[in-house]
Amino acid sequence: MTIDKSEKRVIMITLALIGLFVFSLLYAKNKYRSDVPECLPYDKAYTVPKVNKLDEKTYQVFSVASMWQFEPSEIYIPVGSEVDFYLTSKDVVHGFNIAQKNVNMMAVYGAINKTTVKFDKPGVYDIICHEYCGIGHQNMRAQVIVNYPEAK
Ligand code: CUA
Repeated sequence: MTIDKSEKRVIMITLALIGLFVFSLLYAKNKYRSDVPECLPYDKAYTVPKVNKLDEKTYQVFSVASMWQFEPSEIYIPVGSEVDFYLTSKDVVHGFNIAQKNVNMMAVYGAINKTTVKFDKPGVYDIICHEYCGIGHQNMRAQVIVNYPEAK
């Protein structure tokens, strides 16, 4: 069996594009230190919203989206912290965007998505839902509060 020349060309172009795509992904991951979101096996433990402090600069956040809120809605951490976000939804599909942080994930019922974000500068980082999810969509937000106010 022979493969037609034009088919061979299409296969080569496709492979080249796949290679380019993987390369861009790895390049962006290193250059912008952005963690490519991972999908984890579903576990009920992640459906209980919480902030776990692993050590002084390492945190886990179990973020649970529902119509129309994120829980926890306020996350207090010190400057320089690295935070693993584990995201899921109680109902429909929601978005999860931390604008200044190049984070763009979806919260999906029955699925756990994970990404890691480092917060090097103090400030208040808004988390917003950027996936239309119904009548209260525009009110759906939370905040990561990095060393502000100082006392917390
Ligand atoms: Cu949740 Cu839009």
